[in-house]
Amino acid sequence: MSLSKKQLWRRFQQHYSEYPDLGLALDLSRMRFPDEFFPLMEPRIQQAFVEMAALERGAIANPDENRRVGHYWLRNPALAPSPDLTHAIEQTVADIKSFAAEVHAGRIHGATGPFKYILLIGIGGSALGPQFVAHALGHPHKDKLTPFFSDNTDPDGFDRLLAQLDGRLGQTLCIVVSKSGGTKETRNGMVEAEAAFKKAGLNFSQHAVAITRESSALDDFARQNGWLRRFPMWDWVGGRTSELSAVGLLPAALQGIDINGLLDGARACDIVTRQPNTRSNPAALMALMWYYSGNGKGDKNLIILPYKDRLELFSRYLQQLIMESLGKELDRDKKVVNQGLTVFGNKGATDQHSYIQQLREGLSNFFVTFIEVLKDRDGHSIEVEPSVTSGDYLSGFMLGTREALFDKNRESITLTLREVSPFSVGVLIALFERAVGLYASLINVNAYHQPGVEAGKKAASTVIEIQRKILSFLSTHPTDFTADQLAEAIGQPDDVETVFKICEHLSANPSRSLIKKSGSGPANHTYCMTKPGP
Ligand code: PA5
Repeated sequence: MSLSKKQLWRRFQQHYSEYPDLGLALDLSRMRFPDEFFPLMEPRIQQAFVEMAALERGAIANPDENRRVGHYWLRNPALAPSPDLTHAIEQTVADIKSFAAEVHAGRIHGATGPFKYILLIGIGGSALGPQFVAHALGHPHKDKLTPFFSDNTDPDGFDRLLAQLDGRLGQTLCIVVSKSGGTKETRNGMVEAEAAFKKAGLNFSQHAVAITRESSALDDFARQNGWLRRFPMWDWVGGRTSELSAVGLLPAALQGIDINGLLDGARACDIVTRQPNTRSNPAALMALMWYYSGNGKGDKNLIILPYKDRLELFSRYLQQLIMESLGKELDRDKKVVNQGLTVFGNKGATDQHSYIQQLREGLSNFFVTFIEVLKDRDGHSIEVEPSVTSGDYLSGFMLGTREALFDKNRESITLTLREVSPFSVGVLIALFERAVGLYASLINVNAYHQPGVEAGKKAASTVIEIQRKILSFLSTHPTDFTADQLAEAIGQPDDVETVFKICEHLSANPSRSLIKKSGSGPANHTYCMTKPGP
């Protein structure tokens, strides 16, 4: 279907909605859904609204974990289903503000002076939101504390990060974030940070704060070691929807970001996206477009393309929010569905110089969500050419790419924000949270559990257990063994490949004292311990 510019302008007016209270507009005109699509989907989206309303009232919306799902209460505590929850949310926000104020005033400080740096240690939902918000709203000259993040268990990654904080640890506040309090990557990050503090002659506990569930291993550790403060993470807030809990609000407040603005934006967005009138609900419209585009099966990838450097981590954040929520083997009736919606993207115009070539001319297996920001910068823009600013180019590239894709039958949604601010970032977070929830209802999956993540955590423990057995065995048997022989010797005859991979890793790291003698292939390499074991 090829449309003239006049026809397109008419279609634009039909499918472009403005939400002045949110500083937001949504354009669906570049999606080629047929006229009957909305009427056809209306009963199903109405059912999704009903389910969402029950969730917000406190129903067990995550039955697999027998949990309520309460992230919408975080920005409107009065909605929480009981007064004690309302109080807990309000109290936590008040505690965050007063803690941040004490830190900013220097009354709570590090061993060598006022806190100037934050080291946030967490992973997944306990890091992606804080990273996104810090990048979107921070400023090198205005931040009250400068944030750093550790979100892996990569030794070299720790070294590079800690090198940046070298000589500054005495003014660094560590925030260890883990809802479960037992995630290994986060625990390892904490242990590595603790060791760095010790090496610098500093007391880690006097620089550490925990955000975790009550009585988790992390909570107990923080309490026993007299950490500066512990903030709560509740059962009814999922990791990937925790940005507006203490997980996101504490680091943001410390950085000097207006957390009231974040909460106000999310609350305002909830008001608009809660109402069950499909055509004036941007989250419902987005969920329906996701459904249309991928036939309700995620057949097409969702590419997030913000034309704004500040929003470049949004696609990473959304990757988790969307893929961890929707990527499920079973639906809510326990039927195998292998659902999902693949998300990737970075930012425009940058990506025009990488994969957009394929989008335009190659596989047509995607739809784009452009995010356009109308305000270019604070202050004056110089002209890079007569009457043209760099922001005009950014806007031109966005509009040009959108049209170029449409000309080639590649579809897109466009979200327009007035500016990047705490309020608009709060709007974006709430908008996508709601779209994910509604879409999950449309495709009948539980968006609020993550069995695949849990499985990954267990798989690593199995490998570590095998490694322990190998090291223990080799420490008392100082001779050469092939992977086959070792697997047999430790009682894991079926796990030869795992034994081989472990030995390859250990022998590549001299401090692990495992010597490899190369043979003609993986089955013939041998390994032996160079020093006697414990
Ligand atoms: O969204 C989720 O539930 C996960 O991605 C978690 O955030 C992640 O696994 C980290 O878990 P935790 O906060 O328990 O350390």
